[in-house]
Amino acid sequence: MDQFEVTGGARLAGRVAAAGSKNAVLPIMAAALLTDEPLVIHNVPALRDVATLALILEQLGVTATREGSTLTLHADPTGPSRASYDLVSTMRASICVLGPLIARRGKAAVSMPGGCVFGVRPVDQHVKGLNALGAGITVDEGYLVARSGGRLHGADLYLGTHFGPSVLATGNVLMGAVLAEGTTRIENTAMEPEVTALARCLVSMGAKIEGIGSHRLIVEGVERLHGAEVTIEGDRIEAGTFLVGAAMTGGEVTVTGIDPYQLTAVAETLRLMGAQIDHGETWMTVAAADRLRATDVTTLPFPGFPTDLQAQIMAAMCVAEGISVVSERIFPDRFMHIAELLRLGARIRKEGTQAIVEGAPRLSGATVMASDLRASAALVLAGIVAEGTTTVRRVYHIDRGYERIDARMAELGARIERMEQPPLEKHRPEW
Ligand code: EPU
Repeated sequence: MDQFEVTGGARLAGRVAAAGSKNAVLPIMAAALLTDEPLVIHNVPALRDVATLALILEQLGVTATREGSTLTLHADPTGPSRASYDLVSTMRASICVLGPLIARRGKAAVSMPGGCVFGVRPVDQHVKGLNALGAGITVDEGYLVARSGGRLHGADLYLGTHFGPSVLATGNVLMGAVLAEGTTRIENTAMEPEVTALARCLVSMGAKIEGIGSHRLIVEGVERLHGAEVTIEGDRIEAGTFLVGAAMTGGEVTVTGIDPYQLTAVAETLRLMGAQIDHGETWMTVAAADRLRATDVTTLPFPGFPTDLQAQIMAAMCVAEGISVVSERIFPDRFMHIAELLRLGARIRKEGTQAIVEGAPRLSGATVMASDLRASAALVLAGIVAEGTTTVRRVYHIDRGYERIDARMAELGARIERMEQPPLEKHRPEW
């Protein structure tokens, strides 16, 4: 198992190109199940989650070939329709094979993904939406089992959770609707850029979708979809992680290969904290000369501040001047990073779904444990500003969603080394 050793005190400076978006590519990969022609995907990031989903797709009769950053997926519609617990439980996003399997094959058995470190994470909206189209999903021995038998049918439906629209439920229902007979009108769809990317991919495969980028999608089902060639856009969350790092280390970083308009809420937050922001059509620069100032952040569905950058901005608040309040409105339990930041000397109090962060003049290096993907990124950022050495354990979490984060942070000036975690000391009690 690898760990990072981060020596604090560096200032991040330079240019970095964003890798392809993890959360855009995963549902697009699942869309390959909707056609028996090849789907060619360019700018695919080299991530563990991508490799895991490719394995799941292979179990479902999809041939996956990767050459450089291009992934070609070619589905055999007669392949198996069962996605097993062993793989699905390692990656929640694999739930997005459910809609395409049902739509194309009329049957599916997909393991319930289970919870994760930031909460229960139900799938009721996926089931509700697909059942409205006639999927007939029931839970059987831990699996979501669908036996519609034939073609799904269009319907009018509303999707929505207590926390707002669901990103992957929107994707799943959309992928069900594109091959359904008749018109489907989905109200309160998520409008995250990753949903828009999926909808555009489906259109390039021959789907008929109106309202892309809005909270209402109207889908005119077609009988078949064909192959297509798509390019994944730059990852806004990865970009945001580098930019927050620039601001909190008093540095200056330009991230290229992104749509800066996807980061408006993040840029606004960093501006309020005292950073300078500049952007063009495909890049954004963040610079900070002085210590950041405190501010308040509430995570919200797009275009609000993304929950996937909550841990990273909290790391910045830990060293900003004054008291900041973070309100988590998407995943009320997504606060595992607090305990680890406290080990570095951060001053954070959690109250319900809020965290109150009192900026400290300095953090000091310690051994910390990554609990999930974005929490790990926050710990790396905190390690870069902390005095001394921070050891971040269990970095396999970060490899799920950040491509070579250690090497790319190092190119920007961070002192970060990847090494094998030494065996844990075995203590024998004296008595
Ligand atoms: N929810 C329900 N019922 C459902 C689905 C969701 O109650 O059927 C709740 C969730 O528990 C949560 C809220 O609705 O409280 C929103 O969850 P959503 O369904 O939008 O999350 P997701 O689609 O499962 C995607 C990303 C997450 C990101 C969220 C929110 C992918 C692969 N995952 O998850 O990304 O945090 O949207 O933007 O796209 C990450 O990349 O680190 C990550 C966790």
